[in-house]
Amino acid sequence: MLEAVSANLQASPRSEPAQLDASMPPTLRLITCGSVDDGKSTLIGRLLFEQSLIFDDQLAALERDSKRHGTTGDEIDFALLVDGLEAEREQGITIDVAYRYVSTPRRSFIIADTPGHEQYTRNMATAASSANLAILLVDARKGLLTQTCRHATIVSLIGIKHVVLAVNKIDLTGFDEAGFNAIVAKFKSFAEPLGFKSITPIPISARHGDNVSENSANTPWYQGQPLLAFLEAVDVEEDQSGKPFRFPVQWVNRPHLDFRGFAGTIASGTVSEGDEVVVAGSGKSSRVARIVTADGDRASAGAGEAVTITLTDELDIARGDVLSDPKNRPEVSDQFAAHLIWMSEEKLLPGRSYLLKSGAKTAPVTIRELKHRLDVNTLGEMAARTLSLNEVGFCKLSATAPIAFDPYESNHSTGSFILIDRTTNATAAAGLIAFGLRRATNIHAQDLNVRKADRARLNSHKPGVLWFTGLSGSGKSTIANLVESRLYAHGVRTILLDGDNIRHGLNKDLGFTEIDRIENIRRVGEVARLMTQAGLIVLCSFISPFAAERELVRELLDEDEFIEIFVDTPIQDCIARDPKGLYKKALAGEIKNFTGIDQPYETPKNPELIVGRDGQSAREAAALIVAALVQRGFIDRDDWSI
Ligand code: ADX
Repeated sequence: MLEAVSANLQASPRSEPAQLDASMPPTLRLITCGSVDDGKSTLIGRLLFEQSLIFDDQLAALERDSKRHGTTGDEIDFALLVDGLEAEREQGITIDVAYRYVSTPRRSFIIADTPGHEQYTRNMATAASSANLAILLVDARKGLLTQTCRHATIVSLIGIKHVVLAVNKIDLTGFDEAGFNAIVAKFKSFAEPLGFKSITPIPISARHGDNVSENSANTPWYQGQPLLAFLEAVDVEEDQSGKPFRFPVQWVNRPHLDFRGFAGTIASGTVSEGDEVVVAGSGKSSRVARIVTADGDRASAGAGEAVTITLTDELDIARGDVLSDPKNRPEVSDQFAAHLIWMSEEKLLPGRSYLLKSGAKTAPVTIRELKHRLDVNTLGEMAARTLSLNEVGFCKLSATAPIAFDPYESNHSTGSFILIDRTTNATAAAGLIAFGLRRATNIHAQDLNVRKADRARLNSHKPGVLWFTGLSGSGKSTIANLVESRLYAHGVRTILLDGDNIRHGLNKDLGFTEIDRIENIRRVGEVARLMTQAGLIVLCSFISPFAAERELVRELLDEDEFIEIFVDTPIQDCIARDPKGLYKKALAGEIKNFTGIDQPYETPKNPELIVGRDGQSAREAAALIVAALVQRGFIDRDDWSI
């Protein structure tokens, strides 16, 4: 499940334990979720203990540790068996996903134990991505908490269809049937819209073992199975091999000229020699020549198997392409709607460009519109401008080029992705695609007769963008003006787009919040691109404080067309100059969101040019820039004076 997400988060479990007996039900992958003190680890520890799955030396260590760290007096603290890391023990919380591989005579299990602490929802989503059943723990005394609701929501979004509601610490309520029933009723009514196939409530005491391995005499009113018997028998299989064939290409294997194979893991469906397959993005098709594995060639292979496929035709196929069933193809669109589970301390910023990673594919995407945020307590859809850590929302995304995908519901692998923050490279969110948006699919690019190269010839210079970035008052506009005058004097076709001017016209609806600045630069980027197509050298003078948007503009243009010029005037000098008196106001708190004062400026990491350092004058900077234009082949002379 959600292999793409789990693979990308690099926390997917190791290979499965061997099946003990072919007649046994398939390995059950389960996740336990609950709040900090609900007893998840104790429950798992108890299960292991009762099944004699603890080795003796572990038991001795456990008894010792229980005395040292435990919260259970002289008794064994089963949670310690599971909370692996010393640091966690000291804090008394579990802080990572721990996978346990356990077998009883009747079934094998992979148990993902996840942290209950609010800020660790990310780990929980990671663990859930490879599970097919979730045990939600609730403290019988406390009932449903926000965290329980959040976990249930994420579990359902991620596609887990079966839930055990383990009402733990039932001993502490005196085995109260009415209290149990009330929690069950509340949960069922909350979870109704989440569409679980089964919800199995069980009253348990992880600490004392009631209804864990055997039915408890303390709960004669409970008629169901104990937890273990239920887990050993439950049928949760989703048949991946019955689904349409999807094979995301992980890498192109070309050891020598006579062999070109596409390596990857079959995400769903089956494939056989001779089958027709289509490359989802390009629509080109071919037939399967060979299915190569480490153990030799195969006639066919199915979901979950790692193979190398060779085709009968030479097709242009790259890492990230998806080989598919031609009669049942993935959608291909550059716009789609998806659920996002936000996993970053940095808030979501609509308009910002993130990297989407799904399987082997990486593509820049922008979150166009946040439709709503889910209130995890009520499942209500709330209006929202952003998502914070652990929040779940629904949004529209657009990619710079069409991508192939399936709705998550029909294919967990090709329907899921993660978003990566382009500046920090950290995972920002996990995404589950709901549906493609048709709007863009029917708009095709129009071929133009007069091309950029034709205009370059007519103008006798190459088009491009000089992007001046730096603090307010750093001298961007002064330098850009000098450069433009100098170019103009010699017949170079230019235009200067300046922040202050554009904000009086095209962007007069925008202010200085992060969201507005992102939109400001996006629009300017599009305009700069159009003007480059018209053959101009476009000088853009914008603070453009965020690296992500500067990169977005770079990507809108052809390679070598974008020259980022960092005007690196120290902020003290900008404050001293203060040409518009804005720093004074910002420092007095009269203007909010002022770059360098109460909003950050992200210094360019690899700009093509840096000017303005060490007291360099505007004229010197301009001369340097014009020289760079000559050196880079935009214009061919530099014997001018200004
Ligand atoms: S950007 O951050 O979105 O790139 P832009 O370059 O368009 O900014 O506009 C910056 C200009 O707006 C500054 O030169 C300054 O004159 C003016 N300005 C007004 N308020 C602010 C503010 N809060 N932060 C920065 N600049 C501001």
